[in-house]
Amino acid sequence: MSDTPHLDAASAKGREFLGTRHAIMAGAMTWVSERHLVSAISNAGGFGVLACGAMPPAILEAEIIATRALTSKPFGVNLITLHPQLDELIDICGR
Ligand SMILES: Cc1cc2nc3c(=O)[nH]c(=O)nc-3n(C[C@H](O)[C@H](O)[C@H](O)COP(=O)(O)O)c2cc1C
Repeated sequence: MSDTPHLDAASAKGREFLGTRHAIMAGAMTWVSERHLVSAISNAGGFGVLACGAMPPAILEAEIIATRALTSKPFGVNLITLHPQLDELIDICGR
């Protein structure tokens, strides 16, 4: 029996929510969280997050496709809500 049942339960909930081996979601960092870092985190069992930053929609789409080519594991996209093309970026994330 575990001596940290609350931590174990929270960790299991996080793993289930993220669909990952570890309940660890990486913070997105503009210019840093690109395809290679994000796929490495996801391949290692965490939840990598692409930083969209000020990317135009076509660049975000290319980055998502490139990340998918490097990992079959789940990853996320961090969007800046002040981005002038936010609706297009959301649409791309849903494809
Ligand atoms: C270089 C750099 C770029 C960042 N870019 C973003 C970003 O684009 N979007 C965002 O939500 N957070 C951004 N952050 C914040 C990080 O995701 C994270 O929340 C912050 O570094 C705190 O991390 P901690 O909770 O592990 O201390 C950035 C942080 C750094 C250091």
